[in-house]
Amino acid sequence: MAIALTAEPGGATDHEEFPIDAIILVGGRGTRLRPLTLGVPKPLLPMAGVPFLAHQLARLHAAGVDHVVLATSYRAEQFCDYFGDGARFGVQLEYVTEAEPLGTGGAIRNVADRLHAKPDEPVIVINGDILSGHDLRAQLALHAERSAAVTLHLVEVDDARSFGCVPIDRDGRVLAFLEKSPQPVTNLINAGCYVFRREVIERIPTGRAVSVECETFPELLGADELLVGYVENAYWSDIGTPAAFVRASCDLVRGVVASPALPGPPGEALVMPSADVSDAAAIAGGSFIGERVRVAVNAIVMGSVVLDGAVIESDAVVRASIVGVGARVGAGAVLDGAVIGEGSHVGERNELVGGARVWPGVVLPPVSIRFSSDE
Ligand code: GDD
Ligand code: MG
Repeated sequence: MAIALTAEPGGATDHEEFPIDAIILVGGRGTRLRPLTLGVPKPLLPMAGVPFLAHQLARLHAAGVDHVVLATSYRAEQFCDYFGDGARFGVQLEYVTEAEPLGTGGAIRNVADRLHAKPDEPVIVINGDILSGHDLRAQLALHAERSAAVTLHLVEVDDARSFGCVPIDRDGRVLAFLEKSPQPVTNLINAGCYVFRREVIERIPTGRAVSVECETFPELLGADELLVGYVENAYWSDIGTPAAFVRASCDLVRGVVASPALPGPPGEALVMPSADVSDAAAIAGGSFIGERVRVAVNAIVMGSVVLDGAVIESDAVVRASIVGVGARVGAGAVLDGAVIGEGSHVGERNELVGGARVWPGVVLPPVSIRFSSDE
């Protein structure tokens, strides 16, 4: 498919048409999401009923992208098993696997021979862990209007320290790229979605690891290339931590951010058809309840993700937490901000709060409450 880009009046690209390539970087190990990512790459973790990557593909397709190259490394084979040739998602999908991780820049360079774009045409590059409601076509239009080497989506955050900090001038020209600066000079950060002029990708060195953030962008700026910031404070999340993952899942379920891949209408909960939820249980806050999950009487599940085959026993309370595949939360247990690994068993009345993580297959014995009158 070809899409028409319409820049601002007077822009250089009115009604120009060309097909669009995208690269998604999906090779990271997702360490901050362990134990969930011990067996599954981050972009394949289930989010609101489908692998996270399905939301990204659906949004790219909706923006007119028809050809997507996945730059894979960690557990690469799992991507193809689920997504195949991409036809179900309306895109032509290709896979390139790095024998050793090449870093973000190396990964982009490594797939260059799969791109269809001509040297001066745009290529979209996105991090595989970004959920963004921004207007990709407007970003493409700005890129064309400014004839930029790279156009970066930027968003404002409260604390920029764990991101790429990107100061710009009044015309949107990027002045510096400071990855994970302990003392950020601005709250504008790199949102992990770029439009590259294709020939710029070919300038990245081959055959070794390269960081696009630490090496490519600073070098382009040093060579006086035009890097432009596309600032749009739409819905945006990096799903790379448990807290952010749960929040993004709930936002998808509740329709705070729209996704064509959501399997059902937005609402307070998304309960998969084979789940068995007691009428006397409360499920809300955008919770996701997977296939074959059982939620027993008087259990409360608020703003959480309960993956396939898990069991939440009676009177348990699960808040802002992720319960892994086949895990069991015992009667009266309380989870708040916890991650329970696949197949684990949280015994009755345990309380796991504030970022607690239980590794797969662990059994926590029940907590017995003894009152002083018992002694
Ligand atoms: N193919 C491949 N090979 N992909 C990789 C590699 C690699 O060697 N290393 C990382 N990736 C992918 C990850 O899978 C992820 O989708 C993306 O590149 C970014 O890596 P993260 O590890 O998630 O980086 P980050 O979140 O700390 O920082 C990045 O994203 C921020 C926005 O969320 C940077 O781009 C920051 O500048 C940015 O602000
Ligand atoms: Mg990330």
